[in-house]
Amino acid sequence: MTSNVALNPSDTASPNQLSKRAKKSPLSTGVLTDSAPLALVQRRAAEALLAVLAGNNADTAIARVDTSQFDGASRSALADLVLGTLRFFGETRGIVRQFVRAKPEPLIEAILWVAVYQLAHSKTASHVVVSQAVAAVEAVNRGAKGFANAVLRNYQRAPEAALAKARDTDEGEWNHPAWWVKRVRADHPEWWELILRGGNAQGPLTLRINPRKTTQEKLVAAFERKEIELDVLSDATVVMKRARSVQRLPGFAEGWFSVQDAGAQLAAPLLGAKTGMRVLDACAAPGGKAAHILELSDCSLVALDIDALRNQRVSENFSRLGLTAEIRAADASQIKEWWDGKPFDRILLDAPCTGSGVVRRHPDGKWLKRETDMAQLANLQALLIDRLWQTLAVGGRMLYCTCSVFKQENAAQIDAALLRHANMRRIRINLPGDPASSGGQLLPGGNKKTHNHDGYFYALLEKIVS
Ligand SMILES: C[S@@+](CC[C@H](N)C(=O)[O-])C[C@H]1O[C@@H](n2cnc3c(N)ncnc32)[C@H](O)[C@@H]1O
Repeated sequence: MTSNVALNPSDTASPNQLSKRAKKSPLSTGVLTDSAPLALVQRRAAEALLAVLAGNNADTAIARVDTSQFDGASRSALADLVLGTLRFFGETRGIVRQFVRAKPEPLIEAILWVAVYQLAHSKTASHVVVSQAVAAVEAVNRGAKGFANAVLRNYQRAPEAALAKARDTDEGEWNHPAWWVKRVRADHPEWWELILRGGNAQGPLTLRINPRKTTQEKLVAAFERKEIELDVLSDATVVMKRARSVQRLPGFAEGWFSVQDAGAQLAAPLLGAKTGMRVLDACAAPGGKAAHILELSDCSLVALDIDALRNQRVSENFSRLGLTAEIRAADASQIKEWWDGKPFDRILLDAPCTGSGVVRRHPDGKWLKRETDMAQLANLQALLIDRLWQTLAVGGRMLYCTCSVFKQENAAQIDAALLRHANMRRIRINLPGDPASSGGQLLPGGNKKTHNHDGYFYALLEKIVS
């Protein structure tokens, strides 16, 4: 059955055949009914996984694998397999380890990870997953076909026992690296399980409505006309009931909305920029929060980011949304290079961080970050706070924000900043869904439907006369 499955891009099915097959496959739900392209998708997913483990983020890793034979459905299946395997990588790796005596070559091991992920978490028929994974392995190394077959069949014989054994380790149980589990547990003794579980869930597709272009009523009516189902969270926020291609939603090109997590949507209202104020977004790209600031007030905004390439996305987003700002590429900590000496009334510092609060959207982040990255990032965050503090007007406010749940980047960072700056005062803020004890920390996943957001941290700081 496997010998006639074409795996080499040069001898796979034609793009048309692939497309027809893919149409039979509701890939968005993870169900792949057509077996021929699946082996190729599994192999490409395995290649992308190895690239992630070598230090590339998932987008880059997926973009680098050869998808010349793939149509849109196969491409989304590829992304599903890569992100799904990474989401459950602790248990998946733990299971495969149990069935291999000598470590196989990396690509073969990675194909097995993909197959085990599918067997445990996708709706694809298990015989299809196994036969295609075996075919994918055979195309890499003909001699490894029997081995791959044996590993997957052995796992299938007692999947619960294999999962239970994989869960003997923190990594296997929580699907986060062991150091990460330890830290979250120490930082949030009350909430650590909720945080880790939230990090393994899938984030909803949340939209922020642009009041300069439309209203919630108009947007909801346009979506209803197209039978697109959504939940309304507030005047400004709706959540799609199912994942969709954003560009095809009504009003996208017209700038009616942006995709933005509900937790991230708190930044602009908390910053409270008013008409005529001078505002700095110091780490602005790709411009989600900066755009929101401009949608809410006629302020004069400088959108700064160190990454000129990412700044292009700021420009694209602003032009789609009909917004204007001064967009600059510079290192925010080098204030002499970009600051004209006129103090800002408001500063948003959405600092570079581990991203530990957004792993439900970026599961690659769990396996890319090292514990040692944290100290480096914390130093950079402190430097940015200190330098940017100099550019803030007396009476002005800085909103410090991360998409992290680690205290070193959040509460501890702010406590230390308050000790360094006699003219810094923390203003108490109330966040929806913020457990009273956590002080500015949103938990990923939240505990209610209306609080289904990523794990953000916010601290609002005012410059007082010292
Ligand atoms: C969390 S992201 C910002 C997301 C953005 N605020 C939004 O809402 O779309 C952090 C950004 O910080 C930028 N960055 C990192 N170091 C920087 C520095 N020294 N100066 C300015 N920007 C920096 C990164 O390029 C990245 O775009």
